[in-house]
Amino acid sequence: MTSGPVQLAVAGAGLIGRRHIEQIVACPEAVLTAIVDPAPAARDLAQSLGVRWFLSLDDMTAQDRPEGVVIATPNQMHVANGLACLSALLPALIEKPLADDVAAAQTLVEAFERAGVPLLTGHHRRHNPMIQHAKAEIDNGRLGRIVAINGLFWLIKPNDYFDAAWRRETGAGPVLINLIHDIDLLRFLCGDIVAVQAAQSSRVRGYAVEDTAAIILHFASGALGTFSVSDTVQAPWSYEFTSGENPAYSRTQESCYQIGGTQGSLAIPQLDLWHHPDAASWWSPIARERLSYEMQDPLARQIANFCAVIRGTAAPIVSGREGLNTLRVIAAIKRAAASGASEQV
Ligand SMILES: NC(=O)c1ccc[n+]([C@@H]2O[C@H](COP(=O)([O-])OP(=O)(O)OC[C@H]3O[C@@H](n4cnc5c(N)ncnc54)[C@H](O)[C@@H]3O)[C@@H](O)[C@H]2O)c1
Repeated sequence: MTSGPVQLAVAGAGLIGRRHIEQIVACPEAVLTAIVDPAPAARDLAQSLGVRWFLSLDDMTAQDRPEGVVIATPNQMHVANGLACLSALLPALIEKPLADDVAAAQTLVEAFERAGVPLLTGHHRRHNPMIQHAKAEIDNGRLGRIVAINGLFWLIKPNDYFDAAWRRETGAGPVLINLIHDIDLLRFLCGDIVAVQAAQSSRVRGYAVEDTAAIILHFASGALGTFSVSDTVQAPWSYEFTSGENPAYSRTQESCYQIGGTQGSLAIPQLDLWHHPDAASWWSPIARERLSYEMQDPLARQIANFCAVIRGTAAPIVSGREGLNTLRVIAAIKRAAASGASEQV
C-alpha cells in the first residue's frame, strides 16, 4: 500500500488549471509532481514551483509516473489526454465537459471502466458542503415529494469575452459552457432528467451561439423543472453570483435555484427552507428556517476526493459516468432547441 501524499500532475495550466495547482500545493494529502502544458508560461510556473515540466502527457508518462493526473486542457483535448493517462493506467480527474460530444465522452468513460482505472469529472460544485447539505435534506424527506424545480443563470458577459472566436461559434455558448454546471447540480439534487424541451435566441449579440435559452426539464421522478439562461442580462441571479464560490465574482444575497416539495421549498444557496408550520394551506402563515452549513472550497474538497479515490478509501463524488450523463442532458437541450420538439435524454 502506497503511503505519503498522493503524487499528482496537472495537464493544462490555464485559468482553471492554475487553481487546481494552487489547491494541490495547499492540500496536505497531495503533492504536485509535474505540469504538462506546452506554453512557456507553464514552464515558468513549473520552474517557480520546483516541479517537472513536460510538453505532453506522452512525454510525461515516458519519464515519470505520478499517481493521478488532473486534466484542465481545452475541451477538444480531453479525450486524447484522458486516453494518454489510461494507456499508463493513471487515474484522471477531467474538467467539465468530459468531452466536446457525447459519443467521445462515452468512449472515454467505457475505456476507463473496462480497465478499472478511476475517472472523475470536474463538476466541483457537488463538493460544496452547502450542496451536500441540500441533498441530505432532500434525501431525508424534509421537502416531502419534489414537485417543481426552478433555476436561473442570468448574468452579463463583457463584449471582450467574445474576442476569442471560438466563444462566438457553435460548440460554445452559455448552455454548453455554464448551464452544464447547473444541470449537474440539479441531477445530483433531484435525480435523473429524462426529457427536455427548449428554445434559444441570439437576438442581442447576433452570434452563432445563443445568448438566451428557456428550458423545461422532465425528471425521472415526475418532477418538472424550468431553467432560464442568459449571459446578456444585468442581473444578480446565478450560482456564480450567489454561491460565493469564486471570489472573482461579486456576491449577491439572492437565490439561484428553488426546489419545491409537498412539505416545503428550499432556496439555494441560502438554504432557506420555507414551509407552513401549522397547516399546508396558502391561508396559513409561511415560515422560513435558514439551515446552516460550513463553507469550504469545493475545488479543495475535489482534490481531496481524488486523492482518496486513488488510495482506494473513497468513491468518486462525480464519476466519469456522471459527467457523461450530465453531458447527455446538455446535448438533448441543444437538440430540443434546434428541433422545437421534446427530446429524450
Ligand atoms: N470547473 C470549472 O468551473 C471550470 C472553469 C473554467 C474552465 N473549466 C474547464 O477547464 C478546461 C480549461 O479551461 P481554461 O479556461 O482553464 O482554458 P485555458 O485556455 O485558460 O487553459 C488551457 C491550457 O491548456 C494548455 N494546453 C493546450 N493544449 C495542451 C495539451 N495538449 N497538453 C497540455 N496542455 C495543453 C494551454 O496552453 C493552456 O495553458 C476546459 O475544459 C473548461 O471547460 C472548468
